[in-house]
Amino acid sequence: MNSLKLAEKRRSVREYKNRRLSEDDRNYLKQLITEKPLIAEDASLEFIFIEDGEKAAKDLEGGLAGYFGKMIEAPHYFALLSDPKSKCYKITGYVGEWLILNATKKDIGTCWIEVIDSEKTKEVLNIQSDKEVVALIAAGYPKKEYKLSNIYASIKRGSISALTDLGYPNIDSGYSKEIVSSRKSITEFVFIDKWGNVPDIEELEMRGIHEALFYMRLAPSYKNRQPWYFVVRGNEIDLFIKQSDEISEAMQCLDAGIAMFYFEVGLHDAGIKGNWNLSDFDIESEITEDYKAAGRYQY
Ligand SMILES: Cc1cc2nc3c(=O)[nH]c(=O)nc-3n(C[C@H](O)[C@H](O)[C@H](O)COP(=O)(O)O)c2cc1C
Repeated sequence: MNSLKLAEKRRSVREYKNRRLSEDDRNYLKQLITEKPLIAEDASLEFIFIEDGEKAAKDLEGGLAGYFGKMIEAPHYFALLSDPKSKCYKITGYVGEWLILNATKKDIGTCWIEVIDSEKTKEVLNIQSDKEVVALIAAGYPKKEYKLSNIYASIKRGSISALTDLGYPNIDSGYSKEIVSSRKSITEFVFIDKWGNVPDIEELEMRGIHEALFYMRLAPSYKNRQPWYFVVRGNEIDLFIKQSDEISEAMQCLDAGIAMFYFEVGLHDAGIKGNWNLSDFDIESEITEDYKAAGRYQY
């Protein structure tokens, strides 16, 4: 399955079948956390697979994790631990999403879960570590089947389908109960050459990055706020994240890391090989105050 289809298939799963993953699938997930992508070497991360999700969900009730303290019940979880630094949070987002797309390949459903109180979460999950539990990822078989036909069936105007945007014909398989989270169109989060300079699709096509952007917009984000802005120039693409006082630094950095991962997969598919630089680059002076530079892709 190509990456675009995989990204279309992924969505946040909040209801799981009431059974554990098969031993093969559990081993697959446990193996994945030993094979993190290269970027993980730039941060000190610890990903822990929690076998007994039922117990963990009960222990985490009462406001420790989940939007408004509402925990998502799942057969298993990953606990994602990192040093409390913005660069490490971003890498946690990148690697966490890599894990999610790999789980999607095996039809394993997942959902990011915000951790509100790291210390208490470590205590109830019996995790001995100096690092911070930044987030959890729920894992299990989705209660509803997520066959590709369902996803194509949900293609309609304003849906997240990149295929629709790319001009593929509608595929009508007759049914879909799935609610698909809406997404911005790509010209709503890209500038060319400088901040404020909105491109048209033809310009993005000429630079060969339009497909990567269609792919990118499928990235999940905290409360689906899609806080990204890209400035494309020469052989560099800068990612900016809209800041909010109401959202923790960790969640904002996870969104940045997730976006970097998605965009990179899309760019690599388009033959644009490069890497994200997360620290030493000059920031353009004219950017709007409430946006912060998160990384620069150089190719
Ligand atoms: C960093 C992060 C934290 C999230 N935390 C939660 C959460 O605590 N509870 C929840 O139901 N969804 C959570 N989500 C899922 C988002 O709401 C979801 O990705 C977004 O609404 C887009 O929907 P989709 O993933 O189905 O495409 C989180 C997502 C991210 C990226």
